[in-house]
Amino acid sequence: MSTEKLIIFDTTMRDGEQSPGASMTRDEKLRIARQLERMRVDVIEAGFPASSNGDFEAVRAVAGAIRESIVAGLCRANDKDIQRGIDALKDAKGPWRIHIFLATSPLHMAKKLRMTPEQVFEQARLSVRYAKNACPDVEFSPEDASRSEPDFLCRVLEAVIKEGATTINIPDTVGYAVPEQFGEMILNLRKRIPNSDKAVWSVHCHNDLGMAVANSLAAVRIGGARQIECTVNGLGERAGNTSLEEVVMAVRTRKDFFNLVTNIDTTQIVPASRLVSQITGFVVQPNKAVVGANAFAHASGIHQDGVLKARETYEIMTAEDVGWSANKIVLGKLSGRNAFRQRLKELGVELDNEDGYNKAFQRFKDLADKKAEIFDEDLLALVAQEAGATGDEEWGLVSMRQGSGTSEKPFASLVLRAKSSEIKAESKGDGPVDATFKAIEGVAKSGAELLLYSVNAVTQGTESQGEVTVRLAKGGRIVNGVGADTDIIVASAKAYISALNKLASKVERLNPQYQL
Ligand code: KIV
Ligand code: ZN
Repeated sequence: MSTEKLIIFDTTMRDGEQSPGASMTRDEKLRIARQLERMRVDVIEAGFPASSNGDFEAVRAVAGAIRESIVAGLCRANDKDIQRGIDALKDAKGPWRIHIFLATSPLHMAKKLRMTPEQVFEQARLSVRYAKNACPDVEFSPEDASRSEPDFLCRVLEAVIKEGATTINIPDTVGYAVPEQFGEMILNLRKRIPNSDKAVWSVHCHNDLGMAVANSLAAVRIGGARQIECTVNGLGERAGNTSLEEVVMAVRTRKDFFNLVTNIDTTQIVPASRLVSQITGFVVQPNKAVVGANAFAHASGIHQDGVLKARETYEIMTAEDVGWSANKIVLGKLSGRNAFRQRLKELGVELDNEDGYNKAFQRFKDLADKKAEIFDEDLLALVAQEAGATGDEEWGLVSMRQGSGTSEKPFASLVLRAKSSEIKAESKGDGPVDATFKAIEGVAKSGAELLLYSVNAVTQGTESQGEVTVRLAKGGRIVNGVGADTDIIVASAKAYISALNKLASKVERLNPQYQL
């Protein structure tokens, strides 16, 4: 039996972006898109162009920068949304796709759409017809398919394929499916729909019951799906989506079982994971398969002994296969500009202009003064902040000093940049982080609620940089800020300021699934 290809459709920048606080700017999307292209993802869903002018511009920018992967934009099933998608994508450098969705479950049709099944049927057909006039590559998703009536689903899908839909994507929108049943559902749809062979069958699973990857793989193995929609680190609404790294490595490691190949350059998986985590502020749990810090760490003596004797005793894939650079010391205090730039290139990092490289190099020198050994992870943390900066942020950190101890009340004293002026901010607090946040808040007066504070070491050892995530909520919006420094209090201040800047950047965005 010949080996078939499994198409990898990444929706980190669309469904992933719907996680609270994970929204991305145009430049952040460009950086992620370049990394996805480097990883040889087949389809990159860059966003939902009708959700905001900002996302329209982001999708347009991604389409204008990506040559190899297909760039897709999500649209609700109406002409206005679809036209917005076409406008964002039509000047693409490479191939592009319009992805239309419309709910087909009785619950969604009655309660969310307030439409009859006949109206949904008509709207599905007409929307695909509209898109097809402008774009040969049209994907259709019947939202909440796993809770839809099979007969109705078959009617709708047959009709949209007749209108020219080239990919049919079956979403398990609320993570309700179980593997065997979901696999059989895909198989039955393919068997029952007379023109099913005219489309590629795809699945899009959510992880509410922790089965998104299992459901996707069952759809492939039992149902014959040949496209999986997934996200880096499994980011996505609620409990997230199918994790890209897990399906790709499952199919590769168990090729004997799946008899499928993907296009993915797996050595780009860990860099992609780091980049997405740094940009969104969603930290990867240490025991996460493939990309978690412990995924290849063998703590127990028995395992270590086994791995040293023969790697295969306890490892089914190597750390190098997925792009762990084994904590290589790459640069130090004496490294020059060229070596720095060369290593960034090897890591697949491109900064937008010369000024960006100069600033990043200066920060690298500052870091090398504090830390003798600079690892790849340090470089990635450092440039993540540089690349994310636009230069016209509301707030910046000029300098700071703080103190704490067993017999004194912790305090923080900072100098902040507010547009072009500098402001002093001081406060005491329950601890140095609390004092720092109170001092910043004392001048910024954002009134935001702190939802999450977390610190992670970028590399091992006490001289590692700390990477801090701060999640703030205000007026219904949630944002994540990330900061890295060898001093975790400074990292905390940077993270808080980054979150404040995101709150200040008034991004108004619709969630595609909550509005009509
Ligand atoms: O979960 C879902 O149903 C979706 C669709 C828009 C594909 O994200
Ligand atoms: Zn989804």
